[in-house]
Amino acid sequence: MAEDCPKSMTIGFCVFVLFSTLHVSLSVEMTGLFGNFTSPDFPDPYPDNKHIVWNITVPQGQRIKLYFTHFSMEPSNQCEYDYIQVLAEGNETLRFCGEEEKNHESTPRNTVILSAGNLMSVVFRSDYSNEGRFTGFQAFYTSEDINECMSKVDGEKMCDHFCHNYIGGYYCTCRQGYLLHDNKRSCTVPCQRQVLSSPSGVLTSPNYPSPYPPMSQCDHTIRLPEGSRIILDFPEPFDIEGHQDVPCPYDMLKISTAGQEYGPFCGPTPPGRIDTGSYEVHIAFRSDSTGKNKGWKIKYTSIKAKALALN
Ligand SMILES: *[C@@H]1O[C@H](CO)[C@@H](O)[C@H](O)[C@H]1NC(C)=O
Ligand SMILES: *[C@@H]1O[C@H](CO)[C@@H](O)[C@H](O)[C@H]1NC(C)=O
Ligand SMILES: *[C@@H]1O[C@H](CO)[C@@H](O)[C@H](O)[C@H]1NC(C)=O
Repeated sequence: MAEDCPKSMTIGFCVFVLFSTLHVSLSVEMTGLFGNFTSPDFPDPYPDNKHIVWNITVPQGQRIKLYFTHFSMEPSNQCEYDYIQVLAEGNETLRFCGEEEKNHESTPRNTVILSAGNLMSVVFRSDYSNEGRFTGFQAFYTSEDINECMSKVDGEKMCDHFCHNYIGGYYCTCRQGYLLHDNKRSCTVPCQRQVLSSPSGVLTSPNYPSPYPPMSQCDHTIRLPEGSRIILDFPEPFDIEGHQDVPCPYDMLKISTAGQEYGPFCGPTPPGRIDTGSYEVHIAFRSDSTGKNKGWKIKYTSIKAKALALN
């Protein structure tokens, strides 16, 4: 070691250099469905200046259960000297130190640590000195299936109707009469494109006044003889998922003629009567993947060109 120390340098400086190069970093990949690992030299006391990371990866759709069968690390305030740190995506980071035999609060004790996803990293860190002799740790892990059907995303169930869990994943199905949307979770009812040509009639959202299905895309046309004038009324209940500040960010009803657009409409209050002045009206309705709203109804009537001419 003396050769590494240039003669012109002071001893103090040299010791410092050796010190920092001795701080060894090591990373261990673990991909089995179960396994175990220990601090270096276990069950003998662990050496100083070690930094070891065990990266545990189990198949997608599974998570990791980790527990310690032995734990003895130098205790310190907030585990700033020697510690075990457990990191998993979607989970808070945990740090442990101290001696289990002495019932230190900061040891993992008998807890089983669960990851949210299929990755977990366990970091072992020892600093440059130990006051006593600490024997380190022994840890075991196993993988277990995540039951996705029990989880929620943004407070919503994983599937609109039925959820089926299997080892490594899940899938959704829908009640009869519904179709599974391309997003693999919404159950939609295809909206039949309607062209209405009688002088008066009714249009509604699917299932009205029961909640309309998610991911609806409805396009309807009222087409009467040229010169007719279509008038629209919106009876109660009128209920389209809306937002207080943003105009119709989720679901919306839009009405258009060759020369004019009306809407988008949403919320709990029906629009007033619309005299479109046109003989052809297009009605478009869109819903997103969430919400339970009753929908809308349009009653239309028309005034004939002749009647107009008589006025
Ligand atoms: C720990 O894992 C090794 C393989 O890495 C295995 O040989 C050993 O039997 C395991 N120990 C225990 C106690 O299960
Ligand atoms: C271990 O996992 C961490 C965090 O997931 C990652 O940043 C690091 O690159 C991984 N190490 C190796 C050697 O794969
Ligand atoms: C990690 O997240 C999972 C799922 O959200 C939870 O069950 C588990 O308790 C969390 N583990 C820790 C150590 O926070």
